[in-house]
Amino acid sequence: MPKRLLLISTSLVLVIAGIAGCNRQSLLKSPLLTSQNEPQIADANPAEPSPVSSASNAQADLQKLVAMGPRVAGTPVMEQASSYLQQAYRSAGYVTEVQTFTYSKFEDQGSSLTVNDATIEAPALRGSVSARPTGRLVVVPNAGRAADFAEVEVNGAIAIVQRGEIRFLEKAQNAAAAGASGLVIVNSESDTFAGLLGGEVNIPVVALSGKQGNSLIEQVQSQSIQATLNANTAERTVTGRNIIAHRAGVTQPELLLGAHYDSVADSPGANDNASGTAVLLDVARQIAQTPLGERVWFVAFDGEEDGLHGSRAFVQQAQPQFLTGLEGMLNFDMVGVNQNLRATGSAALTEQIQLASSSDAAEIATGAAGGDSDHAPFAAANVPVLFFTRGMEPNYHSPADSQVDTTLLNETTQVAINVMQQLLQ
Ligand code: BES
Ligand code: ZN
Repeated sequence: MPKRLLLISTSLVLVIAGIAGCNRQSLLKSPLLTSQNEPQIADANPAEPSPVSSASNAQADLQKLVAMGPRVAGTPVMEQASSYLQQAYRSAGYVTEVQTFTYSKFEDQGSSLTVNDATIEAPALRGSVSARPTGRLVVVPNAGRAADFAEVEVNGAIAIVQRGEIRFLEKAQNAAAAGASGLVIVNSESDTFAGLLGGEVNIPVVALSGKQGNSLIEQVQSQSIQATLNANTAERTVTGRNIIAHRAGVTQPELLLGAHYDSVADSPGANDNASGTAVLLDVARQIAQTPLGERVWFVAFDGEEDGLHGSRAFVQQAQPQFLTGLEGMLNFDMVGVNQNLRATGSAALTEQIQLASSSDAAEIATGAAGGDSDHAPFAAANVPVLFFTRGMEPNYHSPADSQVDTTLLNETTQVAINVMQQLLQ
């Protein structure tokens, strides 16, 4: 893959023209949406815009979002976050729409294994059925291939097997075929793991830490032990909300800027991805009253962490001509930690971007970037994409993802505006 390394000037001075005007034009039907799938229009009357300032608000927006707690799709925090974003875009002079979509989400509502009156945490594999069998514990040798199950009698029993060598699904299918009422998979490390079953099996499958699992295996080998496996799982229907913002009357943007505003459970999602969400808002504020503002749409995507649901729904609901009318989709994800900002994507876009060097550098390259994010469904629909990220960092998806560097947010905003100007010149 050819890689071009270009330096982007971030010292570009942006002239922001005064005060945002009033926009009271209603957005009744957008050509984005197919007739079967119309959005819920949140409020056709945008709030009175407040004066636009060239001072960055990205850090303040980020802190507001982070203070709400983990922004998990389908939870009340997302209602709060979506209201905040709508209000912020309206104050900057944009109209907003809420695009809703639904998907089914697997939930472990507390799964465990009870042995001799002691209950141990045993997370269900994603996709496991919900069931509560009681039976003898039987250790299955090796990796749990069909031949391994043939060496033991697991009919009506709860089978225990080591992780590794073959897929979880294969172990589980072999266990079910041998008549086991449940399967416990013991981790190869001392802690536990979060696994994906990856197919349908009619018995419950849970994970156990290597520490607890191996000690249990030892006990089972010297005595007969009864256990209850409680896989407490459910499929929940989640309603996601994408927040779409654009200047009134702009029905066919040339560029679509996106960032997901949901986070994983237990993480405040500062870098992943309040950072991209705040940069998007900041770009919106800075270009609101410039000609650029009339050529773009901003979309804060929901449901990214559960599998890019928001961006997939957007692409699905879009009219084909809306997508072909886009010159590009620019996605911002994890842009507040790490010095090096990279924009990776379609040659159709990267080849248009070149500028003089400066001390604040960004790297533009053609090809796929690491990390999966909301640009992917657009790329799959043949929309040229650019993925802006500063890459992996130690606090990724952890409770410690609680702060970012203001300078890096502001630098990303300036690079984004600079790139947009080059793409639209
Ligand atoms: N923000 C990440 C993507 C990412 C990871 C960007 C590392 C830059 C560096 C995103 O929210 C995420 O977690 N994506 C998942 C896949 C997604 C389909 C759930 C991933 O990359 O594993
Ligand atoms: Zn993530």
